[in-house]
Amino acid sequence: MCGIVGCAGRKPVAPLLVDGLKALEYRGYDSAGMALSQEGGLLVLKKKGRVTTLENEIKKMFPNGTAGIGHTRWATHGEPSDENAHPQVSENEDIAVVHNGIIENYAPLKKWLIEQGYKFTSETDTEVVVHLLSYYYKGDLVQAMLQAVSRLSGSYALAAMCATEPGKIVCTRRESPLVVGFGKGENYLASDVSALIKHTRDVCYLGENDVAVVTPDDISLFDCDGNPVQREHSHIDWDIAASEKCGYEHFMIKEMFEQPQALKNTILPRVTEGRIRFDGIDEGFLRSIKRIVICACGTAYHAGLVGRRWIEDFSRIPVETDIASEYRYRNPILSPDELCIVVSQSGETADSIAALRTFKKGGGKVLAITNVVGSTVARESDMVAYTWAGPEIAVASTKAYTTQLSVLFMLAMELGRVKGTLPQSKYDGLLNELLKIPELASKTLDLSSYAKIAAKRHYTQSNVFFIGRGLDQPATMESSLKLKEISYIHSEALPAGELKHGTIALIEKGTLVVAMSTQSALKEKLASNIKEVKARGAQVMLISSEDTEKTMDGVDEVLPLPKVEDELAPLISVIPAQLFAYYCSTLRGYDPDKPRNLAKSVTVE
Ligand code: M6R
Repeated sequence: MCGIVGCAGRKPVAPLLVDGLKALEYRGYDSAGMALSQEGGLLVLKKKGRVTTLENEIKKMFPNGTAGIGHTRWATHGEPSDENAHPQVSENEDIAVVHNGIIENYAPLKKWLIEQGYKFTSETDTEVVVHLLSYYYKGDLVQAMLQAVSRLSGSYALAAMCATEPGKIVCTRRESPLVVGFGKGENYLASDVSALIKHTRDVCYLGENDVAVVTPDDISLFDCDGNPVQREHSHIDWDIAASEKCGYEHFMIKEMFEQPQALKNTILPRVTEGRIRFDGIDEGFLRSIKRIVICACGTAYHAGLVGRRWIEDFSRIPVETDIASEYRYRNPILSPDELCIVVSQSGETADSIAALRTFKKGGGKVLAITNVVGSTVARESDMVAYTWAGPEIAVASTKAYTTQLSVLFMLAMELGRVKGTLPQSKYDGLLNELLKIPELASKTLDLSSYAKIAAKRHYTQSNVFFIGRGLDQPATMESSLKLKEISYIHSEALPAGELKHGTIALIEKGTLVVAMSTQSALKEKLASNIKEVKARGAQVMLISSEDTEKTMDGVDEVLPLPKVEDELAPLISVIPAQLFAYYCSTLRGYDPDKPRNLAKSVTVE
């Protein structure tokens, strides 16, 4: 939800800001803009549309400002337009602000500011921040910022500049991420490190309510009372290639093909001497767990649904998987012997963070499964199991999902082992099969041409239904989400047995039904459901291993999987669906990396 980047240096900074905004575009792409501090005041440039539209404007102007703040927007308050684009500026254009988050009390503040004589020119909540800064500004932007934010409620990462303090950027955060980066003769800030990695690997994540002052020579940090504070520095060791396309047409296809390596990186370091070991997760603690709740959103929630089945099956610990935005508001029953697992690729999803905080009130421990070191979810959890997927840039999650599954699978095995509910021979067998998963993911990707051919046949569909049973059921929910979010084809996933309780009314001649069948014990049941839709004229596509495909009547085409043990199938069964979604999206002429209305990191409620 909106990306912020800033730099204070000694050379023209606009190209660096454009570059940073491109890296952050996955957070929103409704408009882009920047404010530059140059001789004579602030130069503000902003445009509806993608960063390249802004870039084309900038190329005509050669701005020479050496400090600046940039923004790429995912619209919340006010439609995408030039007026609502950030930076938002004060009436005489001497203060500029970029913002990620939502100012929840913007309406009363706006009313009050209008009473004080301020005029509003946009529909954004951000504009109240600019006018508050003007109201409090008495020659010191830091003081004005401290006073302004004391009146805000909601979530924000803010960066501001003032024409009378050239070369200085003041930024702060509450419930939205912000990182500052240390360079040589220039210093930076951004919503996340992907915007900074070309310039520095020495960064510091701002704490809640911290204020940072970024100048070419220094970054000073203060708490919300204006007292100087020190924060730990982090070193970012990502490979730059990981945040570039490296010859692939889109990040999404690159990231799908990175799954074997990502799975290897996530699984192998945790397997030693025939056992799975999680750093920082104590065996005695695992043994003491009586109940588990998994909280997450979107794709991560789907991973949690699969995880629930594994944990209950292997360890007999009752698990509930909850959508984070519902968990936080449903007055959950909290208990100190319960474990909350928060699954979040970004570690910055507002609802997942809120669920984590709600859970913590009950005194239980939180385990984070996240891909981003130093993210809010990682910092606020008691234990972290990282997915080592590398940066995921495409909005549609692929490698983060399969690596989340691999962590949940290993955790389920460990819980089963310490609880004594998973016999050693079964544990050994599963571990052996788990170690084959990266190779099986690779084999599944080798079969990508099947998905491409199927997409050519079906990309004009307007409704697709996914069905499955057992472990295939949550896997089809993720498959369906992939298709709808990037191809804009309406799709739904249903437990196969549930179809006849209503939704089958929508099946007509030619409707595509994708059936997933990886669970041998449920094969026959699924076969009956396939017959039911076939009898109503559906075209049936089957995702299954070669053995199953031979036994299924009425199947029109197959997206094949290599042979895989039933329990581990979700780790690869989604891959053909990811590929199918990708090819449908590109055939329909869309950009799968930046689906409409979506942002990668949902840092607002
Ligand atoms: O960063 P998170 O895993 O917390 O994000 C949660 C969802 O927004 C995310 O999984 C979303 O559903 C996917 N990008 C869709 O592909």
